[in-house]
Amino acid sequence: MTSIDLSDPKVFSRGIPHAAFTALRTEGPISRQYGINTGREGYWCVTRHADVVAANRDFEHLSPAPLGTMIFDRKELLNPKTPRMLIEMDPPQHTRYRRLVNRGFTPRMIAMLATQMRAVARTISDRANRLLDENGEIDVVADIAAELPMQVIAAMLGIPEEDHDKMFALSQRIIGFDDPESDSNGLPDGEAMMQMYAYANTLGAKKREAMNGGVRTDDIVTALLDAEVDGEQLSELEFDLFFLLLVVAGNETTRTAISQGISYLFSNPDQWQRLLDDRSLVTTAVDEILRVATPILYFRRTVTADTEIGGVAVAKGDRVVLWYASANFDESAFADPQSFDVGRTPNNHVTFGGGGPHFCLGANLARLEIRVMLEELLDQMPTLGPAGPAVLGSSNFTNGLRQLSARRT
Ligand code: HEM
Repeated sequence: MTSIDLSDPKVFSRGIPHAAFTALRTEGPISRQYGINTGREGYWCVTRHADVVAANRDFEHLSPAPLGTMIFDRKELLNPKTPRMLIEMDPPQHTRYRRLVNRGFTPRMIAMLATQMRAVARTISDRANRLLDENGEIDVVADIAAELPMQVIAAMLGIPEEDHDKMFALSQRIIGFDDPESDSNGLPDGEAMMQMYAYANTLGAKKREAMNGGVRTDDIVTALLDAEVDGEQLSELEFDLFFLLLVVAGNETTRTAISQGISYLFSNPDQWQRLLDDRSLVTTAVDEILRVATPILYFRRTVTADTEIGGVAVAKGDRVVLWYASANFDESAFADPQSFDVGRTPNNHVTFGGGGPHFCLGANLARLEIRVMLEELLDQMPTLGPAGPAVLGSSNFTNGLRQLSARRT
């Protein structure tokens, strides 16, 4: 089938290993794999779209709670006292906690952010155009894609402007843990997490003080401070974990979608021209960008009761990796999946998960961010083109670009 070790981040340094995934989908769509970053017991590698969707929804047999969502075990979760993030909870606990942040993501809240997003996008394109005038070149990742997601999450959480860079750097260190250049020996950067918690506590304390003085801001941090689960306020650590998840989940993922999307448009100038000629394609273009970018390559579950996936028996305790990076290119779910088609319909990608209780809370927010940035580029930077090859990070969890040089063509 394939001798490639998908648990080795280096395997992804030249992009998603499509040949290996195609071989797996054809010859062993649910196969037992072993790797350097997984234990002796190995894991089930789920590669077909239909199986990823079914397994993602089957929360009664497949759970993120026992050992986490990474390809390696988060053994500390075996201790029931270890506080866990929303993404590591099962219903009914998950349902109660998700309700707390839900209100930050209603269509009304997202629409309120839209005007702000357009203003930020204009600042970004003005600055990028100035840089192009001065230097002839920009880096799409740093100069276009990074700013909007950070600004949006900061507005939602009420993080003041002067702290944005610090938050961005910390979230990078936390999510980039399996990138050799991240300096963290394949482990989440504990020090960065501690700093993020400390920051969350200070911000929380300031907000609480303001609230006690009668000043209430309409942001998620304030809602979390007010919130009660089963009659009790969130503990300091629960509050910190929420904060961490929201900063990390909303940042690199959306930045990756924007920068990978631009990279695909650079390699497919005919698709860029289609968008310039027909703006009604922007909606389908956003989802096509999300499909090919697949910013999160997989999430993992642990089997909590014997069951089957796609006809293959899996036993309690087994680990199951759901490869979104494979499902999004499955020829049985997408016509000509390797081609980039800004008008693609239908497009049932699993970039935000395959459905089920953990479906991405920020999906519509992310869609809007990508849309706003894309429209801004079409309006203000229609002649932007590549000035060098895209440089990928080296991770088997996130599909982030490190750099993409661009100039006017
Ligand atoms: C293109 C950008 C994004 C991608 C690719 C993405 C992807 C995902 C995926 C794959 C999941 C897990 C789904 C599952 O397990 O079934 C998830 C969950 C989540 N996402 Fe996103 N996401 C993006 C943007 C955002 C944004 C902007 C936010 C918030 C500001 C956000 C907040 C969350 C949260 C809180 C969860 C956990 C939900 C839960 O456990 O109930 N995401 N996301």
